[in-house]
Amino acid sequence: NLHSIVSPSILSADFSNLERDVRRVVAAGAEWVHVDIFDGVFVPNLTIGPPVVKSLHKSVPEAFLDCHLCVVHPSNYVEDLAAAGAAQFTFHIEAPGVDFCCNTAAALATRARQLGMLAGIALTPETSADAVLPLCTTGAVDTVLLLSVRPGFGGQKFQPGVLPKVAALRAAGFSGNIIVDGGITQDNALSVAQAGANALVAGTTVFAGKEPPEAAVPSLVEMIA
Ligand code: DX5
Ligand code: ZN
Repeated sequence: NLHSIVSPSILSADFSNLERDVRRVVAAGAEWVHVDIFDGVFVPNLTIGPPVVKSLHKSVPEAFLDCHLCVVHPSNYVEDLAAAGAAQFTFHIEAPGVDFCCNTAAALATRARQLGMLAGIALTPETSADAVLPLCTTGAVDTVLLLSVRPGFGGQKFQPGVLPKVAALRAAGFSGNIIVDGGITQDNALSVAQAGANALVAGTTVFAGKEPPEAAVPSLVEMIA
């Protein structure tokens, strides 16, 4: 009973008008709102952290803040993000502070859940789905986020190598959320959903595409429903 979710990435929103842009996509039917938290070390780009999440949660409490941590030490932020009102805490299996270790990852996911968030594990395009199978089959995570671009920037081209990874996770019996993140457009959304993903992140397509967010969000939702 997974349902289809579109999570617009505010990486492509107007950072001086974040409240307005979050309201716009929530009103357009976005069930989640994707917040990319970059530390300038795990990825060569820097964004925002717990204080901005806190302000957004205060301004738009109905928004489900789907936080994607592209940082080297995600455990440093778990308490602050929970207190800020993050709804989902997704961190990378490749992060040096996690180091491909499923025990470390499971412990952090458990902490995120104890603090009231959903727990997600993310994989870069180079990492095989096998790296997170132990987390998936033991129910340690609610969500797996599969990047379909190199992490760090919006507006890159979708890498179709993500599709067999989605299928492999479903074939292994994972029944949680699978989010595909990066390069999602109206032209590839259906193929991603058909491979088994139930959630799509879209930054450029929603905030900087040919249609305004008011049209782009419902068209993506309808495409994967
Ligand atoms: C990439 C980020 C994505 C990014 C996607 O590092 O994790 O969430 O915002 O942007 P688009 O949809 O433009 O590829
Ligand atoms: Zn992301």
